[in-house]
Amino acid sequence: MQRKIERILVTGGAGFIGSAFIRFALPLCQKIVNLDLLTYAGNLRLLEDLANHPSYRFVQGDINDQPLVESLLKEEGLDAIVHFAAETHVDRSIASARPFLEANVLGTVALLEALRKFPSIHFHHVSTDEVYGSLGESGVFCEESLYCPNSPYSASKAASDHFVRAFAHTYGLSTTLSHCSNNFGAGQFSEKFIPKTLSQCLAGEPLSIYGTGKNVRDWLYVDDHLEAIWAILHKGERGESYNIGGGSELSNLAMAHRLMDLLAEQTGVGIETYRSLIRFVSDRPGHDFRYAIDASKIEKTLGWRPRVGLDEGLRETIRFYIDFFKDQSAIGLNSCNVPSDKVSSVGETGKYSTELHEFKPIADQSIACFAKRTNPAL
Ligand SMILES: NC(=O)c1ccc[n+]([C@@H]2O[C@H](COP(=O)([O-])OP(=O)(O)OC[C@H]3O[C@@H](n4cnc5c(N)ncnc54)[C@H](O)[C@@H]3O)[C@@H](O)[C@H]2O)c1
Repeated sequence: MQRKIERILVTGGAGFIGSAFIRFALPLCQKIVNLDLLTYAGNLRLLEDLANHPSYRFVQGDINDQPLVESLLKEEGLDAIVHFAAETHVDRSIASARPFLEANVLGTVALLEALRKFPSIHFHHVSTDEVYGSLGESGVFCEESLYCPNSPYSASKAASDHFVRAFAHTYGLSTTLSHCSNNFGAGQFSEKFIPKTLSQCLAGEPLSIYGTGKNVRDWLYVDDHLEAIWAILHKGERGESYNIGGGSELSNLAMAHRLMDLLAEQTGVGIETYRSLIRFVSDRPGHDFRYAIDASKIEKTLGWRPRVGLDEGLRETIRFYIDFFKDQSAIGLNSCNVPSDKVSSVGETGKYSTELHEFKPIADQSIACFAKRTNPAL
């Protein structure tokens, strides 16, 4: 079965994955409406070059604003919602869980309530492998794995998954759901592991790694995630969920070393110089040890496979961030779009420090380079 999807409401389209999805999908659609609140993580300059595109509309607003969502669904004659909007940083959820409840759970419920008036619109919910909790040295998460979320972030994503399922079952809504492993690529907010590692290396500042650095993540290049979502959106079975992973498992320390090796290739700085920046700090409370994904369902049923190798994707990501962090005098991305009440405050929690870094402005040239990478027509 192939769903006809030409007009999409994307929530959280000013974030890392949502903005990449819009860039990917816009040439393939008649209309994309991007509904984003522009929290500290929203970054409209990632889509600056598309601002006047005739098929694109940006609306600054909260997914919790159900009348706004309903008016968009009515005005724009949409076929689908692809729901990315969320609070996404685990450390921030440990410091304060409520914003995660409000955005991730209540926000998703508000969208689902709005959809009850438009039952022909398909809803794709972008979730995370973190809802399954943590693995030991072996094993993988499959779609039947039990939910066992360990952080307030993953608990809020798990709760939102359950509401999606319940609304599909109770009200007959057309939904699909995906659980993806850790993404990397251009445009990720600088508090996350890969941009943070690159920023510290480029600035020659100490790089904090939680615990012993042995926690393992399964990394996927963001473009591969977009293709998986596109496949599910069009061909995914109604009511089904799909796990998406890159099969590239690395400990945090191994990932830091890999980034340093590849960064050294591009900057000419010695690898040992970068490695000497590493400091091990008190572990994140409740830190999940390992995530790994069995993606055989989406591979067998929808023919999706990751196409971008780890090093290829990392090299591309590093090129982006070298430009990104180069021009500190460029106009800050978020200076005009951060409602202060939406910025989660994160500080010391006991022995553990969240080690968040200030937002670093983006260089214009890196936006241009990013735009060309994802849309050769530009
Ligand atoms: N980044 C990853 O590795 C990863 C992996 C698996 C799943 N996911 C999921 O993918 C989605 C996108 O992740 P990301 O890394 O791009 O996140 P992000 O933090 O970069 O972006 C989130 C976006 O949502 C917007 N937003 C937040 N609350 C909102 C609200 N109430 N109303 C409207 N907009 C709001 C923000 O302004 C921001 O633009 C999330 O749902 C996340 O759980 C992410």
